[in-house]
Formats: sequence, C-alpha cells, structure tokens
Amino acid sequence: MTTYRSRVAGTGSYLPPDLITNADLEKLVDTNDQWIRERTGIEHRHKAADNQATSDIAYEASILAIKDAGLQISDIDCILVATVSPDYLTPSTACVMQARLGLNGVPALDLNAACSGFIYGISVADAYIRMGMYKNILLVGAELLTRYVNYKDREVCILFGDGAGAVVIQRTDSNAEDVIYSSHLRAEGSLGELFIRKAGGTRLPITQKEIDEGTHWFTMKGRDIFKNAVRTMSATCTQALAANDLKMEQIDWLIPHQANWRIMEAVADHFKFPKEKVISVVHEMGNTSAATVPVAFDMARRDGRLRRGQTILLTAFGAGLTAGSAVLKF
Ligand code: COA
Repeated sequence: MTTYRSRVAGTGSYLPPDLITNADLEKLVDTNDQWIRERTGIEHRHKAADNQATSDIAYEASILAIKDAGLQISDIDCILVATVSPDYLTPSTACVMQARLGLNGVPALDLNAACSGFIYGISVADAYIRMGMYKNILLVGAELLTRYVNYKDREVCILFGDGAGAVVIQRTDSNAEDVIYSSHLRAEGSLGELFIRKAGGTRLPITQKEIDEGTHWFTMKGRDIFKNAVRTMSATCTQALAANDLKMEQIDWLIPHQANWRIMEAVADHFKFPKEKVISVVHEMGNTSAATVPVAFDMARRDGRLRRGQTILLTAFGAGLTAGSAVLKF
C-alpha cells in the first residue's frame, strides 16, 4: 500500500489595516497602556472594516498561501477553515470561501476548536493526506473577534483582534524529510464555562434580555485560563517531543498560540527553552484565536527567521477548553 506524508507547502497571512491601540482602549475602559503591555505584551490589535466578514480576510490569506506554495487555486482539493467567528452559523465559512475561490465540488468544512483550531486543523489535514484522500489542502485560521468583544469589559477587550493565516498542506513522499511529524490534541469540556459566548446558539437564543445582560459577548475567567494554558500546552508539547524522540534542544522555533506573552514565556520556562527561539507577534496583533499560529508562522518566515529545513513545534490552547501541539520539519 502506498503511504503518504504531508508537508507545509506554503503560508500566507492577512491583518486588516485598521488598528485598535492601547490608547484607544484607555478611552473606553479603566485600563492603561502600561498595564496592558506588562500583563500581556500587546501594543495594538487589528480591526476589520465594517463591510468585511471572516471569509473576506480568510480569502486574502489563502491567496497568498496558494501562491507561496507555487500552486494555482484549481490545485486545491479540500478546504478547512478553523474559526469561532464564522460569516454565518450556516453555511460554513469554508463553503463561502469555496464559492469565492471558484472551487465548485471541492469539499469544504469549518472546524471549531477555538484558539486551538489551527492545530486541530493540521491534524485533520495530515490524517486526510496520510489516508490518500487529498493532495493540496487549504487550511485557514480566520477570526473577526472584535465583533464578539464587549468594549465595556476591560479584561476581555484588551486581548482580542481580527486576522487570518493560511497554509497549504500538501501530499509528499513517505521518505521525505520536510513533513508534519505528528499532532497531539486534548480537550477538557468540563471547563467550558471559563471562556464562553453563551447566547446565540440553541441553548440560549439571543433575545432582548440576553442583549441587556451581555451574554452574547465573550466572557472569560482569565486567571484560570492562564494557568490551564501553561499546563496543557506544556503537556501536549511533551507528548509531541516524546512521540518523535525529540529533545527541546532540537527544536529551532516554538510557535505558541499568541494570547499573552507571559503565557508563552511560562511555557518556554517550563522547558528551559531560550525565549529568543519563541516566535511572538502578540504585540502587533493581540489574540486572533485560530489565526494566531498560522499568522505568526507566516510573519516569521517573511522576516527571515524561520527557514526551510528547520524543526518547528506549534502549540495552542483555547476555549472548550482545548489544546494541542504539532511538530514538523518545514
Ligand atoms: N486594565 C487594568 N486592570 C485590569 C484589567 C485591565 N484591562 N483587567 C483586569 N484588571 C485588574 C483586575 O481587576 C485585577 O484587579 P484586583 O487585583 O484589584 O482584583 C488586577 O488587574 C489583576 O487581575 P488578574 O486577573 O490577576 O490579572 P492577570 O495577571 O491574570 O492578567 C489576563 C489578566 C486576562 C491578561 C490574563 O489572566 C490572561 O491573559 N489570561 C488568559 C486569557 C486568554 O488567553 N483567553 C483567551 C483564550 S481562551
């Protein structure tokens, strides 16, 4: 039987040009630039234009990733979109994207694993490719989180922004070196209340009462999530290293979910891993949920840090609660 492996063939990212600076937030809530920088590392976030939806920014990142992979749009044979902020509840954002890309007939589905969505997407794409189902999977993490943020809640509104990152996951030979080695996922559904957008689904439809009470916004228990994030990202990274008989010294770059620099720093400290080998772009975009890992990957490539042949450990945590890691040679 032929066996296949998968590789990251191309990357792309798109951050809308409008910015929400810490100074902007000082005018909305009782906060200040120094607190935000010290507690999170964030300097500004991007905000999509009023007429942009998630699929619009996903499209921009996707076109760049397909071009970077040296492919035509018509080479894409499966579309996966990781998002918690879809254009519509149905149809999926992946289907909206499929129509826009003119890929009629190509399968398209959304994945909701919150900020871990891109890592979950890697595992799905890698499995599809290993099974021989597809050759060039477009995997996008895209979010318009500013639409779900209450700009009266100082703990939440300082964190989130809009953005999209995309990769093409491509079939390659089983003996190729530049492959996705493995992915490791976990979830703790019992902790779902720590980060939740309660109203808007079948349990709690949006009514005037919900709007008045603000349950249609994201609500969060930040400190608990912080601790869980460090624990679960460290645990799935340990799994990833063990499964591939790798040591942290063999990792060229750690690309963690970009939620808060202090969380990334704590994971690096857990492994005594040098901070300068942690890719962090959180200062310039805040938390863009499923988009942070592919955006950070793409930005590090474009600024010349991340190069072909390097070994990269990706890790994320998110609402659910979910977490995961993937290790690959680029
Ligand atoms: N500006 C100023 N003060 C703020 C503030 C803000 N934006 N937000 C909270 N505070 C206050 C708190 O009210 C608290 O005041 P108190 O000591 O008088 O009670 C104080 O700052 C410290 O709050 P604490 O929650 O301990 O801060 P922290 O160091 O844990 O940082 C987060 C808060 C939210 C930045 C941090 O917990 C975090 O990043 N958590 C992860 C969240 C996340 O990633 N969520 C998304 C993925 S699910």
